[in-house]
Amino acid sequence: MERIAVLTSGGDAPGMNAAIRAVVRAGIDQGWQVFGVRHGYAGLISGDMAPMGARDVGGIMQLGGTVLGSARCPEFRTEAGRRQALQMLGQHQVEALVVIGGNGSQSGAHALSQMGFPVVGVASTIDNDLYGSEITIGVDTALNIALEAIDRLKVTASSHHRAFLVEVMGRECGYLALVAGITGGAEAIVLPEIEADPEAIAVTLRSAYDRGKPHALVVVAEGARYNAQALAAYFQQNRERLGFDLRVTTLGHVQRGGAPGASDRLLATRLGAAAVACLSSGKHGVLVGLNKSEITDSPLSQVVSTKKQLDLDLVKLAGVLAR
Ligand code: F6P
Repeated sequence: MERIAVLTSGGDAPGMNAAIRAVVRAGIDQGWQVFGVRHGYAGLISGDMAPMGARDVGGIMQLGGTVLGSARCPEFRTEAGRRQALQMLGQHQVEALVVIGGNGSQSGAHALSQMGFPVVGVASTIDNDLYGSEITIGVDTALNIALEAIDRLKVTASSHHRAFLVEVMGRECGYLALVAGITGGAEAIVLPEIEADPEAIAVTLRSAYDRGKPHALVVVAEGARYNAQALAAYFQQNRERLGFDLRVTTLGHVQRGGAPGASDRLLATRLGAAAVACLSSGKHGVLVGLNKSEITDSPLSQVVSTKKQLDLDLVKLAGVLAR
């Protein structure tokens, strides 16, 4: 093998740059030339790729986002789009591809792999909803950003004796909400995976008020049926029941934009290097991830067809602690 390429795809995640850096430098260490593809699968289709040297990835590890750019690319979901991408890879004499991204990105990686092209995926999404890695690149930083916001909101909430609904990201997966809720000391947590009863949340808030709590916090995942907006609308008609005055904060993409912490930089570095090690040993069609503190590789076919389950022990713990 002489030439590989790397791309970042889907929602950006803090740590992606450390993964790019690791792929480029570990690839160079193998004696390969490493091409960077700009704007994810869109750049693969248009042939927007160029060689990256060791110096090109200097000073990027501490930056949030991705220096290669990212995109959600509907065209790549079509067979014609993927054929065009393969043609571009062929034109640039690229023999293997590393895809840094989450669920949608790894589905694309699997599709290319099924067409016979060697691909290795690197588990990266703040949602932590990717099967094949207990923790994915960006989660830890996104959680810390959410926690910083929650800690600040609790201060002002206490001053005014208010309850806050804080909405965090997570379209189909409540991991961010669950962990931000537990570590932020939430009275209630609302997840996409578990149907919430707004009446029960109202009772929880009222009870916190009656027990003399200075504030109350509900952490809500954006993908829950009762997201922050829906819950606020519901409580509007029942405000006297809550005791607290209510405010809503939606964190949104703020959680994706931060500089990566040490944990994400290290995870991304290990996974990027592991992707290169896989290709070097002739292994592809896999996702590299972290499981029980070890770097592992799982078949992309399994990754894209299996839903990562919510940790029900954590859900139980959240209930025990919210007193
Ligand atoms: O990358 C995952 C994620 O941040 C989800 O939590 C969120 O629902 C989605 O991406 C937002 O996507 P976009 O950046 O395309 O608006």
